[in-house]
Amino acid sequence: MKIERPRGTRDLLPEEMKKRREMEKILRRIAESYGYGEIATPTFEHVELFTLKSGEGIVEEMYVFKDKSGRELALRPELTAPVMRLYVNSCEVMPKPLRFYYFANCFRYERPQKGRYREFWQFGVELIGSDSYLADAEVIMLAYEMLKALKVEFKLEIGHVGIMRDVLKGIENADKMMRLIDKNQFDELEKLMKDCKIDEKIKERVFRLIDLKGDASILEKVNFAEKEIERLKRIAEILDAAKVEYEFDLGIVRGLDYYTGVVFECYAPNLGAQKQICGGGSYELASLFGGQKTPATGFAIGFDRVYEVCEIDLDRRKTVFVVSFEDTYLDALKIAKKLRKSGFVAVIDVMERNLKKQLSYANDIKAEFAVLVGKKELEDGKVSVKDLKSGQQMDVPIEELTNLLSSRTV
Ligand code: HAM
Repeated sequence: MKIERPRGTRDLLPEEMKKRREMEKILRRIAESYGYGEIATPTFEHVELFTLKSGEGIVEEMYVFKDKSGRELALRPELTAPVMRLYVNSCEVMPKPLRFYYFANCFRYERPQKGRYREFWQFGVELIGSDSYLADAEVIMLAYEMLKALKVEFKLEIGHVGIMRDVLKGIENADKMMRLIDKNQFDELEKLMKDCKIDEKIKERVFRLIDLKGDASILEKVNFAEKEIERLKRIAEILDAAKVEYEFDLGIVRGLDYYTGVVFECYAPNLGAQKQICGGGSYELASLFGGQKTPATGFAIGFDRVYEVCEIDLDRRKTVFVVSFEDTYLDALKIAKKLRKSGFVAVIDVMERNLKKQLSYANDIKAEFAVLVGKKELEDGKVSVKDLKSGQQMDVPIEELTNLLSSRTV
């Protein structure tokens, strides 16, 4: 019987992992250059951590299980709640603001499709302790810089969830309505509003907000929510100065319930249905987890989606296949070691194959060169180098080997 991997999960092969590690390196470097430090939290948490505030959408998709002592646990569907739990548990007394970043797998029981998995990775940051628009601006700039560094084509859209919340304040089913807005299910929204007998004036405001998209001039069209609009204007000034390209979209409400203020999302147009590659905003969770009320803001990049559309140069070291035989294996090992020390990838035979098969394998693994370690050449202090592209072969003194290979461009 062949055992398949669970639905919605993936196996990652070396080529893919290489690109992912390179992406990770770029993201880490940028996060750290802004003063963010990496943190890690457990893969599973007490289920309440997510049921308290993350919202129905997330809760329905959670992997929940009981351990042997009957505790109800959940695989993390995201990391903002775990990071704020960690903050309340161990970091409340640290000087503010705190700047954390993470790269971790998340689990959501969703219907799998391209770009939507049951196990996926997020690269995210949380900036904890500042209520200022400057904190919002910083995380937006950081997300923008990260996606630009990965050479992704994307659109950044910014909104303020507080405005829509205010319009729907006190209304029954407001959370449900917010979720329909998040999913762009406007017909259903209209129907729900009708069923709930929502005042025409409120309905009109909701749909007007949903339609408000564009540059900072759209902010002039809102004649309520002064404080929130002023905040967005200030953020716009900073982003313009930093040459960040964006649009406002006052219909962005985000799928998670904990957001309170400025929210933003990034979309990669070439990704099809699952094109949201980053989402974030400001929220307050610390008081819910037993801490002092603490403002925070952050975002998470959908790493697997960005993988599909990012173009980065991979660090490609030259690969040398060291051909060895029974009577030269120990010398070949020494030569391989020397090559690795000089920055080459050196691969050596472990199948006791003959020359022809070793060379054929060297081609299979796309080695640039083969170094043939033969008894006769060794006696003269030499090895034979074969350029696997051109087929050219020549004998070289062992001490000149690494210099020669470095100077040959493939
Ligand atoms: P989120 O929008 O739920 O936000 O997820 C962030 C990103 O994760 C999405 O934009 C998407 O790219 C990716 N993502 C979500 N679900 C899947 C999936 N099933 N398969 C592949 N990628 C997926 C959050 O999780 C918030 N914690 C972000 C945040 C941090 N807000 C403040 N701080």
